[in-house]
Amino acid sequence: MVQQSGRDIAPASGRLGVMLVGLGAVSTTFVAGVETVRRGAGLPIGSLSQMGTIRLGKRTEKRSPKIKEFVPIADLKDLVFAAWDPIPDDAFAAAVKAGVLDRHEHLEPIKDFLQGIKPLPAAFDQHYVKRLHGTNVKTGKTKRDLAEQLRGDIRDFRKRSASDRLVMIWAASTEVFLTPGPAHQSLQAFEKAMEQNDPAIAPSMLYAYAALMEDVPFANGAPNLTVDIPALQRLAEERRLPIGGKDFKTGQTMMKTVLAPAFKARMLGLAGWYSTNILGNRDGEVLDDPESFKTKEESKLGVLEYILQPDQYPELYGNVFHKVRINYYPPRGDNKEGWDNIDIFGWLGYPMQIKVDFLCRDSILAAPIVLDLALFFDLAQRARLSGIQEWLSFYFKSPHTAPGLYPEHDLFIQQTKLKNTLRWLMGEEQITHLGIEYYEKA
Ligand SMILES: NC(=O)c1ccc[n+]([C@@H]2O[C@H](COP(=O)([O-])OP(=O)(O)OC[C@H]3O[C@@H](n4cnc5c(N)ncnc54)[C@H](O)[C@@H]3O)[C@@H](O)[C@H]2O)c1
Repeated sequence: MVQQSGRDIAPASGRLGVMLVGLGAVSTTFVAGVETVRRGAGLPIGSLSQMGTIRLGKRTEKRSPKIKEFVPIADLKDLVFAAWDPIPDDAFAAAVKAGVLDRHEHLEPIKDFLQGIKPLPAAFDQHYVKRLHGTNVKTGKTKRDLAEQLRGDIRDFRKRSASDRLVMIWAASTEVFLTPGPAHQSLQAFEKAMEQNDPAIAPSMLYAYAALMEDVPFANGAPNLTVDIPALQRLAEERRLPIGGKDFKTGQTMMKTVLAPAFKARMLGLAGWYSTNILGNRDGEVLDDPESFKTKEESKLGVLEYILQPDQYPELYGNVFHKVRINYYPPRGDNKEGWDNIDIFGWLGYPMQIKVDFLCRDSILAAPIVLDLALFFDLAQRARLSGIQEWLSFYFKSPHTAPGLYPEHDLFIQQTKLKNTLRWLMGEEQITHLGIEYYEKA
C-alpha cells in the first residue's frame, strides 16, 4: 500500500550546533569544507542533501526539486561547531597535520575560523585506542563522572553558541572490539557499570549516553559497539531521540555495495573477494592495532553475506572466500588505495576476474557524509522520528535495523529508502517504479 504521511515537522529555525567527537582528519575536512562552501569558495560535492534532487509524482510532471529545498533541513549558514579530542590542537593545526586539504588554497583563507574551534578535553582511555596518547583529557573518579562532565560540556556549548538544536557525531578513532554483555542490557545496569568503572563501558558509550540525556541525537561514524546496545537504544526510544550508525560507508565498502548487488541481479556467481587497503593517516595507525582492526573487520565483512544471501543461492554464493586487510603505510597519508580482486563465475561455471583499484581520499569521501548525517538527524528529531533510523542506512557500513530484520546494504535500495522516507515525511506519493500508468490508459 502506498503510504502517505506528511508529518508535522518543526521548522529549522535558529542555529544547529554540531558536536563532533574527535577533531581529526574527517572532522576538520568537514568543518573546513562547510566554511569554504559558505564563503562561496567551493562546492559541497558528495553531499546528497546539498547537491541531490528528488523526483516527485509522475515522470511527466517534471517535478524534481533539490532535496534541500524540498525538506526543511538546516541551512549551512546556521551550523556552528564544537569538538572533543585528547590531542589539544585546534581545528587549523589538526587540519594541517591531517594533510587532507591544501594548506594554502583551503586552510589559510579560513585560519581564524578554524583556530576558533578548540577541542574540549576528551573522555579518553588508552585501553580502548591503544595507539594514541592523549593529553587533553578529562579526569574523574568514575566513568559516570566523565559522562556528567560531557553533559556539562553539551549544556555549556548550547548556551555559549546560542544553538537552538544540537546533534552529536562520533568521528573519533575506532575503539577495540567489544561485544554486548550484562552491563549493556538495561539503563540501570549501564549506569551502575559506569559507577563501577566496568571495562565494558567504552568512552564512545559515555558520549552517546551524555548526548541522549541532553536530548541530542547521536550518530556513530566508526564501527564501535557504542549505541548497539539495548540500554542506549531504549534510552533513545524513551527520550524520543534518533540514533544511528555505524561506520561511515565511504570508499571500498561503497564500491562493494554497488558491485555485489550487480552480480546478484544478473545471477553471476562469486568465488572470492580479496580486499586490501593501504593508508597512512592516523586512522590507519590506529587500525594497525589488531584489536581496533577487529572492530573494523567485522564491519567490513558483513556486507557480502547480507547482499548475496548464500542460503537462498547456494550454487552461486555458498562458498565465497572473503578477506579484508588494512595496512598502515605512512607515505600515503589520507590518500588511501583500496584494491579489490573479485573472482566471479558465469554460464556453466566459467571463471572471470574483476580488479578495482580505488585511489581515493578517505576524508574527502567522509566529510559530506558527516554533513548529511548532521542535517538529517536534526530533521529526524524535528519530525519526531526516534530510535534507529534505518532510512539513513545509505551512509553506513553496518546499518542498524529493528530486531529480527536483516540490514539492507545495497546502495541503491538504501537510496530509494532514503528518498521514499523524505517523500513520506512531506506527504508526497511513494515512487515504486511500476510505471504501468504510462502504458495502460484507463
Ligand atoms: N575517512 C573515512 O573514509 C572513514 C570511513 C569510515 C569510518 N571512519 C572512521 O571515522 C573515524 C575518524 O577518522 P579520521 O580519519 O578522522 O581519524 P583521525 O585519527 O584523523 O581522527 C580521530 C580523532 O579522534 C580522536 N579521539 C580518539 N579517541 C577519542 C575520544 N575518546 N574522544 C574524543 N576524541 C577521540 C583522536 O585523537 C583523533 O584526533 C575513525 O574511527 C575512522 O575509522 C572513517
